[in-house]
Amino acid sequence: MGRAVITGLGTYVPERILSNHDLEQLVDTNDAWIVSRTGIRERRLARDDQATSDMAYEASARALADAHVEASSLDFIIVATNTPDTLFPSTAARLQARLSEKPIPGVDVQAGCTGWIYGLQMGAAFIEANMYQRVLVVASDKLSSIVDYEDRSTAVLFGDGAGAVVLESGPAGTPFGILASYLNADGRGADLLALPAGGSRSPASRETVDSRLHFLKMSGNDVFRFAVKALPEAVEVGLARGGLSLQDMDLLVPHQANERIIDAARRQLNVAEHKVVKNIERYGNTSVASIPLALEEVRQDGRLVDGMVVVLAAFGSGLTWGSTVVRWGK
Ligand code: UT7
Repeated sequence: MGRAVITGLGTYVPERILSNHDLEQLVDTNDAWIVSRTGIRERRLARDDQATSDMAYEASARALADAHVEASSLDFIIVATNTPDTLFPSTAARLQARLSEKPIPGVDVQAGCTGWIYGLQMGAAFIEANMYQRVLVVASDKLSSIVDYEDRSTAVLFGDGAGAVVLESGPAGTPFGILASYLNADGRGADLLALPAGGSRSPASRETVDSRLHFLKMSGNDVFRFAVKALPEAVEVGLARGGLSLQDMDLLVPHQANERIIDAARRQLNVAEHKVVKNIERYGNTSVASIPLALEEVRQDGRLVDGMVVVLAAFGSGLTWGSTVVRWGK
């Protein structure tokens, strides 16, 4: 069984910055509340003419260049997103058309903010099964397209961004690559974080628009309580599946939803502060893109070194949670 190795990583964030002070002009909030309750100072917003696939394209092009491979050599494309360009066709199909003249199969994965972790396991499974040799796993979300900028309880949290990795079948006996994965979901919490209308349950109508049901709704306290349990569990189960323990973990790259959730999980796991990556301050919650964005940041600043055991752990709408354990290097 070949192991799936990350051979390229790329990310993208839009240029436009929305600061806490900018938000003070939009809703009844203030910088001190946002910083103390979430750790967020600013987030990026895509342009009106920029869709999820456009950000996905930028991140993918960088990941492919980093891996030194052509898009036409990809066997499969997975796009994790909760904000597809359109309900159908898939964002993966639109991304494929921009990346390559050659047809390439692809699919969208929708699993809340855990979507990229789901995508990584699916991509790795294709490679381990020897079905495909090279898979692009993309995370892209334009949360600003479904955030209600009249609702202070959610408007302050989210931002836009994208990330992507190239997964390839590693040489026999390679120490690098994806060591283990853990995914889970409990749909009893489906309504705690949801986009109520626009699907088959509640198609778009004048009423759904008037009731602002095309914006995401979240029961923040309930999701918070779920997250502080799910995040440590995701880390511990992922490591155990790889035959590893917390002592073996060099770096934890958690989903960036709220700094207090990350800190609570870190304390529960009793992990040293320098091992936990945080960049929520500058990007807010970018949903599926938050982990690749944080991963690229530690690679750039030199904190991520070949041979390190890195745990990527997420939670989100669904409710979903899960982790990917990687030995970094190629
Ligand atoms: O990736 C998806 C997963 N999503 C999450 O992980 C989100 C999880 N939840 C959270 O991060 C937190 O629950 C929030 C940041 C959303 C809210 O923080 P909280 O500490 O749970 O605040 P709260 O909802 O209990 O509200 C406390 C107070 C309320 O006022 P009262 O009732 O005590 O007078 C809110 O109305 O803070 C008020 N409030 C705000 N005040 C200023 C809520 N939002 C704001 C705001 N600015 N933006």
